[in-house]
Amino acid sequence: MQIIYKKYFSRFLTLHPNELHFTAHSHHFWPDVTRDAVMRHWDDSARYVDNKWEWIMDEVFHPTQKLIADLIGSETPEQIVFGANTHEFICRLLSCFRREAVFSILTTDSEFQSFGRQARRLEEEVGITVKKIPVEPIGTFNSRFIEALRQQQFDLIFLSQVFYNSGRAIADLDAFMQALIELASLDTVIVLDGYHAFCALPTTISPFADRVFYLAGGYKYAQAGEGVCFLHSPPGSELRPVNTGWFADFGGLSSDQHGAVAYAKDGLRFAGATFDPGGVYRLKSVLELFRSLGLESKKIHEHVKNLQDFFISRLGTTDHPLINQGNLLYDSGSPHGHFLTFVLGSQKNAADFCTQLKKIGVYTDHRGNHLRMGFGIYHEAADIKEFFSRLPKT
Ligand SMILES: Cc1ncc(COP(=O)(O)O)c(C=O)c1O
Repeated sequence: MQIIYKKYFSRFLTLHPNELHFTAHSHHFWPDVTRDAVMRHWDDSARYVDNKWEWIMDEVFHPTQKLIADLIGSETPEQIVFGANTHEFICRLLSCFRREAVFSILTTDSEFQSFGRQARRLEEEVGITVKKIPVEPIGTFNSRFIEALRQQQFDLIFLSQVFYNSGRAIADLDAFMQALIELASLDTVIVLDGYHAFCALPTTISPFADRVFYLAGGYKYAQAGEGVCFLHSPPGSELRPVNTGWFADFGGLSSDQHGAVAYAKDGLRFAGATFDPGGVYRLKSVLELFRSLGLESKKIHEHVKNLQDFFISRLGTTDHPLINQGNLLYDSGSPHGHFLTFVLGSQKNAADFCTQLKKIGVYTDHRGNHLRMGFGIYHEAADIKEFFSRLPKT
């Protein structure tokens, strides 16, 4: 029986009564508990004033670290540090390499722009070398990526767990990460961008967490809105980011700031400076809601996978020129993220079709010529049926 989660999103849903919000992969609706969290943030700020950061550290950050760690299968919650966006962490990690050094990166052709643009800009500015392995064909991706590393060492390895422009996910993640760890030299920094997997695909990072940086955030499947991301760093990392703020040595704030710049021993060494902690309040409230409902990533995934399967089964009953099986990027036997992608000829085709769908209250988005349709726990089979009844025939 399908469990109805819509009631937890009543405030967003009430404001969008006839809309099919199939951009859950891009920006989830927020559950009602996040509104209370916003008020809690305000009240705590008023109550604790100058002592607020100690309070927030103990009562908000630490419990949220623990909730995240439980979700991603980490045994070291103290290695989690919060920031406003993943770009902040990418810049901080990049600042660990010598300024103006010609360092090398192994990555894919399908990384989100926070990394993609930054890497391209560094290519232009400093002449770093960036080797991009195409994600397609996905069936051979793992072996092609591993082979590139066998051929040559890199200073940084950066790739997504689920690719933002297709929903394709890395298969056999543990074995794949293990292969990278074995081949990479000890000072290679390895980063896995888990944004499209966090609170979507069941993930356990513990087998590789002592060597790999894991990045994710709250805007998408964690339903907490913008302004909250996290980095899980390998315990004992001695990297010293040049891009560093006062939070990176929170415990040493009152000490003399002389000599070599000191860093926290745990994940906080990758922190920046003052930021709005409201996003962490919201994230905590969502993760507590998940816990109270017994909603682990596995259950969330089952819900969305059922919707995807139902959607795909309905494709057989339509001969729509764009939304059809032939245009769908999906292999039923391979892991896949929480959105379905249709390849629609040109970017213009995709943009025009998105606009057409919006006029009938169906929200989708596109990256290039890839139309993306994402479902979340506030969708039900009835929403998919409604989509097919609204779908224009041409
Ligand atoms: C794979 C991936 N990583 C990260 C992000 C978010 O980046 P940022 O937090 O820098 O805005 C996105 C957003 O779409 C994404 O798709």
